[in-house]
Amino acid sequence: MIEKPFRPEVEDGHCHRELRTPSGSDPGITVFELYREDCVRGMSELPAASIDLVVTSPPYNLGIRYSRFSDTADRMSYLRWCKIWVEEIARLLRPDGSFFLNIGATPANPMFPHELALELRDLFVLQNTIHWIKSISLQEKEGEIVSRGHFKPINSQRFLNDCHEYIFHFTKTGRIELDRLALGVPYQDKTNIARWSHTGGRDRRCRGNTWFISYETIQSRDKERPHPATFPVELADNCIRLHGVEKVTTMLDPFLGIGNSAIAAQRYGIPKFIGFEIDEKYLAEAQRRLVRA
Ligand SMILES: C[S@@+](CC[C@H](N)C(=O)[O-])C[C@H]1O[C@@H](n2cnc3c(N)ncnc32)[C@H](O)[C@@H]1O
Repeated sequence: MIEKPFRPEVEDGHCHRELRTPSGSDPGITVFELYREDCVRGMSELPAASIDLVVTSPPYNLGIRYSRFSDTADRMSYLRWCKIWVEEIARLLRPDGSFFLNIGATPANPMFPHELALELRDLFVLQNTIHWIKSISLQEKEGEIVSRGHFKPINSQRFLNDCHEYIFHFTKTGRIELDRLALGVPYQDKTNIARWSHTGGRDRRCRGNTWFISYETIQSRDKERPHPATFPVELADNCIRLHGVEKVTTMLDPFLGIGNSAIAAQRYGIPKFIGFEIDEKYLAEAQRRLVRA
């Protein structure tokens, strides 16, 4: 069977560019280039090896109702489309860069993130797999159970509530040094500090590959989070810090949404941020939030 090539729905005449550049070149001020444009087309115009860090989350093809994007392509053409934009990322990323790809599954489609990761094997090495934990319940020593985070109930006899997503950390070689302790946590058992020489006497260990990050509680989705599939700013914060803030001159998010990655770049004073988004409403919201931040 010949499948139709998958193309994002961008209306003709809606591909103009928008650019907002803060005046001056003060250290700590991020220069933003935000484009209302199909990211494949936009990225193809950027110079090779010009990006240090990519943090992004594409449409997952799981039927989410975006306002300008059809999220229901057939599986093979969706995977082929992913390969096309990831090829652009591979061209743009510097040899020592990091590409963090946030992707979720649904209980009925649990293999999807793995299929995508396999599809990208000839472009990138999967250096780390991080689990973004959205909700968790822990039993305290005293026996009490505490629950944290955003729990979205499902009605099913078969499936568990899905409380996590993946963040695949791809690099070109699999050998990129990270600033692991930037996200470090104190030792629970302080005797480990002296026992293990690699601590250098510091009460800080690697956090590991589970990141508990909850959504901010909001009163009105339309007003406060007008997008159906965002990640929290803190997720992008973590990616920036783990790669190493000072190593990032230019950061890219090809699927900007309402700009959570851009806000993280601004927080850390990343010198330049480039974002693409096909939906003018989401792009306008990203710009509004950046002006406010
Ligand atoms: C999962 S959302 C990203 C949300 C973002 N991480 C945030 O926190 O706001 C994917 C976004 O990609 C946009 N999009 C879909 N196809 C695109 C394309 N070809 N080029 C640029 N943006 C696209 C959608 O409109 C949607 O806003």
